[in-house]
Amino acid sequence: MQVFVTGASGHIAAAVIPELLANGHSVVGLARSDEAAAKVAALGADVHRGDLTDPDSLTAPAAQADGVIHLAMRHEIAFSGDFAAAAASDLAAITKIGAALKHSDKPFVGTSGSMLLAHAAPNRVGTEQDVATGDFPRVESENTLIALASDGVRATVIRPAPSVHSDLDKHGFVPTLIDLARTNGFAAYVADGANRWPAVNTRDIARLYRLALEHGIAGSRFHGVESEGIPFKQIAQAIGRGLGVPARSISAEQADRYLGFLADFAQIDNPTSNDWTRATLGWQPTAPGLLDDIAAGHYFA
Ligand SMILES: NC(=O)c1ccc[n+]([C@@H]2O[C@H](COP(=O)([O-])OP(=O)(O)OC[C@H]3O[C@@H](n4cnc5c(N)ncnc54)[C@H](OP(=O)(O)O)[C@@H]3O)[C@@H](O)[C@H]2O)c1
Repeated sequence: MQVFVTGASGHIAAAVIPELLANGHSVVGLARSDEAAAKVAALGADVHRGDLTDPDSLTAPAAQADGVIHLAMRHEIAFSGDFAAAAASDLAAITKIGAALKHSDKPFVGTSGSMLLAHAAPNRVGTEQDVATGDFPRVESENTLIALASDGVRATVIRPAPSVHSDLDKHGFVPTLIDLARTNGFAAYVADGANRWPAVNTRDIARLYRLALEHGIAGSRFHGVESEGIPFKQIAQAIGRGLGVPARSISAEQADRYLGFLADFAQIDNPTSNDWTRATLGWQPTAPGLLDDIAAGHYFA
């Protein structure tokens, strides 16, 4: 297939594009700058210049492709406090790409996040069948994309764990937690740190994107998580060992001070099943898990 990949210069695409190319697909990657274009070309993909702030720029490459993987997200505004604007751009992009694919039966693999299960499945393990509703981050985008299944699009969504990790991860939640721990002089967790965060290795989730593109059944949600979840305290302890600083409990009131924009995320209990994803797509995570990956040392180099 010729696959149009948005977010092609980003972290997850750095594994998705090689995964696609190694399995006989060709890739056209979206880039909004010369720097992004150089990264996309270095991965072996063709470049399409465009921008999420100009959703019309997505129509032609989507229409010309045999399938689309949507990874772009305006993180710089999302994580500086305007998640609503980032979500609106995401929704506009999904709507444009969806319109270009209507009645084509082509695959369109989108991205949301396992953390929306904190709303869809509070106080229990979230499954792929749980559907989020309400005014929460990424919910409208996910549901809009899935609804394209009734418009002749083979629409599927991957919900990645909050910590997609590997040596390709330079600015995700794990490096951010490490920077905070370095600044604070300790690795913080809130209260007893028993709240669970799932994780997934970038190489494993790259394979999941390919499998969803090739085999995903229209209207499916898939979970990009290597296990149900890791207590946040264990993640803090692994970071502390890597930095040579202690892991320390803080109160919820101290979270803003020590965990910055991650204060709320760091307190979410997000146990997430991948049973249906494994069974449906034959996906098996095989790369090192989060704690082993942190212990490997590359995050502290
Ligand atoms: N990594 C994780 O732990 C994780 C967890 C849950 C969900 N996700 C989701 O997975 C997707 C991919 O994540 P990632 O880690 O690969 O993100 P990333 O490394 O931050 O990459 C984001 C991509 O979006 C592009 N982008 C940003 N603003 C754009 C704009 N205005 N127009 C066009 N492209 C733009 C970036 O291009 P530039 O290179 O030009 O900046 C980059 O290619 C995102 O939706 C993310 O929210 C990730």
